[in-house]
Amino acid sequence: MTDAPMVDAPMVDALAIRDMSAGYGEAIVLRNLSLRVPRTDIVAVLGKNGMGKSTLLKSIMGYLPKATGAIALDGHDVTQVPPHRMARRGVSYIAQEKALFQDLTVEENIRLALARGSDRAAAMATVERCFPFLLKRLRQQAGTLSGGEQKMLLVARALAVRARLLLIDEITEGLQPSVVTTLAQVIRDERARFGTTILLIEQNIGFALEVADRYAVLDRGEIVDGGPTAGATARVAGYLSV
Ligand SMILES: Nc1ncnc2c1ncn2[C@@H]1O[C@H](COP(=O)(O)OP(=O)(O)OP(=O)(O)O)[C@@H](O)[C@H]1O
Ligand SMILES: [Mg+2]
Repeated sequence: MTDAPMVDAPMVDALAIRDMSAGYGEAIVLRNLSLRVPRTDIVAVLGKNGMGKSTLLKSIMGYLPKATGAIALDGHDVTQVPPHRMARRGVSYIAQEKALFQDLTVEENIRLALARGSDRAAAMATVERCFPFLLKRLRQQAGTLSGGEQKMLLVARALAVRARLLLIDEITEGLQPSVVTTLAQVIRDERARFGTTILLIEQNIGFALEVADRYAVLDRGEIVDGGPTAGATARVAGYLSV
């Protein structure tokens, strides 16, 4: 069936991508890509450098024009929705390039991410629960945090806004193992507590398969494998080895 409805009642996926092609100008990077993220699931997309992982998240967020295909959020078509409106619809995006306001304080970075009228006390409670060290650093300029601390602030900020869908691009890149372990625990705990739906991009197989329920492998812009993460380590490692 080529023209199945985007809404599959009664279970509507948090995110459903169908036959999407996208890229930069003439260069098509993603080809006929389809991917589903069921509500409250964590899905990891793995792949080597340059395979199109970041392009996938940028396409979902509306940064790139789509050549073909459709994207639905909770059953609603968002194929042409621009980034700021995706954010308003509850999609939070942690880009691979650090995106903190370097000159502003930790507290200002968190406050600016919150929508008007959102519960600041609850947001700060999330920060305290996930990364308590940040509470002692609220007045510190974000740009003066270490690289790992900045990554933790990015995650704290994304969790504090209570996104419906969280997109995370290679958060573990360059982090020491103990921080990676902390991040894995925080992400799983917050999902258990709030049912946050998460799509994460990774090259760290251990982290990805520990945190996620399902995985997909991206190879030159196409999903070439996928399934439950349990017992998938050797299989996934085969795709990521050079
Ligand atoms: N702004 C751009 N203009 C043109 N080509 C781009 C642009 N950004 C990325 N590309 C190309 O698209 C392809 C996929 O890039 P992408 O950043 O999605 O890869 P990735 O899987 O995220 O890699 P990495 O693991 O290194 O982050 C690459 O060939 C890259 O050179
Ligand atoms: Mg990337």
